[in-house]
Amino acid sequence: MLHGRERECAQVDQLLAAARERRSGALVVRGEAGIGKSALLDYAAARATGLQVLRTAGVQTESQLPFAAVHNLLLPVLDRSDAIPERQKTALLGAFGLGPGAPGAPGDRFLISLAVLSILAETAETAPLLCLIDDAQWLDGPSADALTFAARRVQAEGIVVVFSARDDPAKPFVAQGLPELTLTGIDAGSAGTLLAERTSVEVAAPVRDRLVADTLGNPLALSELARSLSTDQIAGRAPLPDQLPVSTDLERLYLERASELAPDTQTLLLVAAAHDNGQLDGVLRAAQALGVGPGALGEAETSGLLRVDSAVVSFVHPLMRSAIYRGATTQRRREVERVLASVLDPDIDADRKAWHLANAAAGPDAEVADALHAAAQRASARGGHAAAAAALDRAAALTATPELRATRLADAAGAAWLAGQPDRARALLDQATPLAAAAELRARIAHLRGSIEANCGTPSAAYAILFNASELVTTLDPMRAARMLGEAGQIAWTSGDLAHLSEVTRRLAELPDGGVPGFVGAHVITGLSGFLRGDTTDTAARLRAAADLAGAGQEPRALVAAAAGAMFLGDDSRAIDLFYTAVAKIRAAGEAASLPAILGPLAMVETLTSRYAAALADATEGLRLAEETGQLNPAAHLRGVLAVLAAVQGRPEECREKAGIALNQAITQRLGPHAAIASWARALLDLGAGRPAQAFDRLEALATAGPGEGNQMVMLMATADHVEAAVRTQHQAAATAALDRLQAWASDTGARWANALAARCRGLLANEGDQDPHFAEALRLHAPGGRPFDTARTQLLYGESLRRRRRRADARKYLRSAHETFERLGATAWAEQARSELLASGETARKRDVSTAEQLTPQELQIARFVSQGETNRGIATSLFLSPRTVDYHLRKIFAKLGLSSRAELMRMFLSDDTLAGQSP
Ligand SMILES: Nc1ncnc2c1ncn2[C@@H]1O[C@H](COP(=O)(O)OP(=O)(O)OP(=O)(O)O)[C@@H](O)[C@H]1O
Ligand SMILES: [Mg+2]
Repeated sequence: MLHGRERECAQVDQLLAAARERRSGALVVRGEAGIGKSALLDYAAARATGLQVLRTAGVQTESQLPFAAVHNLLLPVLDRSDAIPERQKTALLGAFGLGPGAPGAPGDRFLISLAVLSILAETAETAPLLCLIDDAQWLDGPSADALTFAARRVQAEGIVVVFSARDDPAKPFVAQGLPELTLTGIDAGSAGTLLAERTSVEVAAPVRDRLVADTLGNPLALSELARSLSTDQIAGRAPLPDQLPVSTDLERLYLERASELAPDTQTLLLVAAAHDNGQLDGVLRAAQALGVGPGALGEAETSGLLRVDSAVVSFVHPLMRSAIYRGATTQRRREVERVLASVLDPDIDADRKAWHLANAAAGPDAEVADALHAAAQRASARGGHAAAAAALDRAAALTATPELRATRLADAAGAAWLAGQPDRARALLDQATPLAAAAELRARIAHLRGSIEANCGTPSAAYAILFNASELVTTLDPMRAARMLGEAGQIAWTSGDLAHLSEVTRRLAELPDGGVPGFVGAHVITGLSGFLRGDTTDTAARLRAAADLAGAGQEPRALVAAAAGAMFLGDDSRAIDLFYTAVAKIRAAGEAASLPAILGPLAMVETLTSRYAAALADATEGLRLAEETGQLNPAAHLRGVLAVLAAVQGRPEECREKAGIALNQAITQRLGPHAAIASWARALLDLGAGRPAQAFDRLEALATAGPGEGNQMVMLMATADHVEAAVRTQHQAAATAALDRLQAWASDTGARWANALAARCRGLLANEGDQDPHFAEALRLHAPGGRPFDTARTQLLYGESLRRRRRRADARKYLRSAHETFERLGATAWAEQARSELLASGETARKRDVSTAEQLTPQELQIARFVSQGETNRGIATSLFLSPRTVDYHLRKIFAKLGLSSRAELMRMFLSDDTLAGQSP
């Protein structure tokens, strides 16, 4: 029975009530030891009428069996795995060691996390579901990842996930994005009731107050104190001791209780404390091997220290477990760990055996280290990257040879990075570095360090690391050298550093075989270096070569490099194709952590080609994943693109907010393109709202921005806006200079968008009488389509010019068309401009209904896109890391918002709307 805690109980009741109405929720209950977290979880379980309940708990042990806690949680519902997609099922069962694991490609933690979500959602189909996860601070890493991943994504299943986690600075439970509830001591009144309940005599008021004051209302401390005091002391007839044993002294109390038991029983307790999963038969077998007689279990149970529940032994309180484990001598602990290992089957339980042996090891031990290494490899193959990292880390600690130790630390770092733990990965690399002697190993360490730094840290530091270390493997491993240089080159480009870019280009060309033919990145880097030097002809040729070289067989990184090349050349459909292929590959492999760096540039091309719905959906997803994995630099890119979209679609607040954050990060880390995109977004917002002077100032500043604060390629794309703002504010010279640069690029590359925009700009700059041929030329170049927003902007400007020259009928023709397009694209500010121009030319345009894209949230749009491609809910759920029921829930909302009743209608709508159409996500 809980005393006090009315507010907390109400919060739990609310979650349960919502679940009964199929609204999902999650909660992390935090607080110190004994404060009542588990008690609140028990309360939830007791109140869960009509709900199915699944429970699991983290276990305080050195061994890190991947997915042990998830396995425990799902044990009662594992038969539902037949209902989840095959790939997920294989990955999940593999993760539990129940199947072969994902063959070939190591499953990613996202795939397994998704499988967990799917199986919970599947279970919730029959009745709402309550998942209780106690002692989350001790969850094995992969379980913590998978369970928080699922908890963040439940929406419409009727699932409640409640975690409890003790505040433990050494083992914090990180659960970003989940609501929290922190428990503090219970109030004096409730404490009094609790004491009264636990003692047989009446508690004297001063005694009660002293206990409450000393324990700060911690229920466990209160009850243990009550237990340790005599009847006379409680009744106030005898004085209380000066020091009341509280908090960590509880361990001592437990040890005292244990020391009163028979030696055999004490041994049994130690075995149970050291055991990794508490399975009764395992504990008994090990105890027997240590000579413990059959009566010990009974005594342990009657002592109230140990509990046996469905063949699992557990301590009545986790503090007791750690007290007993730590209370034993090192010698004795090792002995017990060794025996625990010896009773395990070397094949079936190889991983657990390896961990117990590791705990038993007194110093470096090659055999045990090898066993852990093998366990790590199995964990990786099942997608348990965090577990692999832990096992490799421990294997390294047991390895005496410095070089092998360094290799294992580097492998551990690689696994931690894949698990989305950049800080851990860095710390492991720090340990590996001083031990590594061989060039290949040093290069591998530097490569990983550089990649992490580029995404999560300081790109200029990443550049130095990658560039310098690539030299180590020029002849030993030219492909690695090329990839490192490729990444360094990308950073040099981003920071606008021509010297670095040239240096990388030179190094790439000097690699054996003339620079690894077939390495797409080399062409892109060389091309971009030409661009910064002003040699646009060479740039065009190089980028073309990159785009042509890329094929479906290549790795995603190469495809993305080629896609970027195609994008710069204005080959929009090729760029989008290549991006989609790369994204599809990464999604299929479940490697969601690699998506942010790709979704940024992809969303940018989608924005340039007015695929706003797709761009919004992709960038939103990318940003969410970037934040989940600590990738601040890709996040700046994604925010910049979202700011551009917000500017075009008339969401000024959002535009300012996103651009502000993006700029801050971009300027600090010298991410030129990201900064330029964010500034361009702000300028577009000004231009759309009729503030050309502000727009001009921003774009002029951007055009002259130093390296790392702007970017010439983005500037080319923004030229038409720059010229428009300049012309509207009588800055002829600046306009001409900008146009010249765009014209050169247009001539050298033949990019259609560039030629069309250059013609529009010439029209803007021409004298009144000479404008027509330029605008006509622009419209002719726009005609094949592909960038409807650009086309409509030209029509608007041409219409405006015609109207000023009193050619009203001609003006109306262009303005009408522009207005129509802006309305359809949801480009509200420009639709407004077109409307007032039309009005001035003598025609009233009606405001159209809100466009489809505007009515839907980014997630709904993303789902609608997949449906329009003929995807099933199940397939969509897999691709977007959601449960099918949540997909279904959104789909019903989509239908309601758009007034549709079938998937077929939705497909038709997408086919007929070119802001939505033609996108295979
Ligand atoms: N509000 C309460 N009223 C009465 N008893 C309580 C209350 N809160 C906790 N208790 C009791 O106090 C003891 C400790 O609580 P509990 O085990 O829930 O702590 P905890 O926060 O889970 O600690 P840990 O971090 O060590 O797991 C238990 O015996 C529990 O039944
Ligand atoms: Mg607890």
